[in-house]
Amino acid sequence: MKVLGIETSCDETAVAVLEITKTEVLVLSHVVSSQVDLHKKYGGVVPEVAAREHTKQFMPIFEHALEQASCGLDDVVLIAATQGPGLASSLMVGFEAGKAFSFGRDIPFVAVNHLAGHIFSWALGKSGEKKDHSISFPFLSLIISGGHTELIFVEGFEKYTLLGRTVDDAVGEAFDKTAKMMGLSYPGGPQISNYALKGNREEFALPRPMLQSGDYQFSFAGLKTAVLYELQKHTLDDKIIADMAASFEQAVADVLVTKAARAIDDYGVESIAVVGGVSANSFLREQLGSRLQNCNVLFPEMTYTGDNAAMIAYAGYLKSAQNNTDDFKSLSVNPNLRIA
Ligand code: KG4
Ligand code: ZN
Repeated sequence: MKVLGIETSCDETAVAVLEITKTEVLVLSHVVSSQVDLHKKYGGVVPEVAAREHTKQFMPIFEHALEQASCGLDDVVLIAATQGPGLASSLMVGFEAGKAFSFGRDIPFVAVNHLAGHIFSWALGKSGEKKDHSISFPFLSLIISGGHTELIFVEGFEKYTLLGRTVDDAVGEAFDKTAKMMGLSYPGGPQISNYALKGNREEFALPRPMLQSGDYQFSFAGLKTAVLYELQKHTLDDKIIADMAASFEQAVADVLVTKAARAIDDYGVESIAVVGGVSANSFLREQLGSRLQNCNVLFPEMTYTGDNAAMIAYAGYLKSAQNNTDDFKSLSVNPNLRIA
């Protein structure tokens, strides 16, 4: 069956078409238009600007995705669109378009939680590559992105237990704010990652927030403030930036590894999926992959780490496989939609 996915929760306009059978999933097309350059000059995402851009980009991206998948809307048997969480005005663009297509062509519709999209994003193969998508439950999911840091015990689709989340900044937000303090442009994550390759990871003694808290909560605001105080003692140059980037990444890695290791022990799972925009970070991949013992550490393909519609189509399929389609006429976006 062909499933159309739509994602406009933040600053990416994305549409994808997947061909899914009971055993295999094939991404036929996966088109993402990022607004990063547009928001760069503001140092972060401006909701009004994002929504306007989605309305401009949506139809061309939609047509491109169908064309790339060599199909028409009439070949699609399920439409999945992100309902939340995210920016209300951005969410509305994709969600309402999905509802309209569904109404106009009488195609079943599913409302998808954006975080459910990330949770299963590791199951997708690259565009054009068929992948066996049998999923073994239970597993842990560590979502690390610009807006989220959540550790979730996943016993099945929509059977989630939220073990912990950030009490302040998300990991990606901490990357972006740390980068900004060092004069690096938005989004700072990839730049920190590049600078860190040349830096000394032990140069700055940064805190590991909530490491000993005995629970699964995270906090990154204090780490960001510690970076600020350290930076004030130095004149910024390439070496300081590289050492700070490297020390910052090490602190984040230590926190994520410790919390994840505790959850793996406590819940006895065989796999942990680390997903979301920050899961593109090569140092974090290496640290989580090598330090989390007795557990498969799963990562999405790079192309599905950031926000995309292929993961929304897939989560929509999983929802519909449980005979869950939505009566879209009564549905609207929910910017604060929770996963559990
Ligand atoms: O998942 P995503 O595209 O959007 C949200 O749902 O938030 O994540 C974006 C975040 C940004 O904070 C960005 O700086 C971060 O992911 N990011 C990275 C890397 N690539 C993107 N952080 C660290 N290292 C990277 N290589
Ligand atoms: Zn996301």
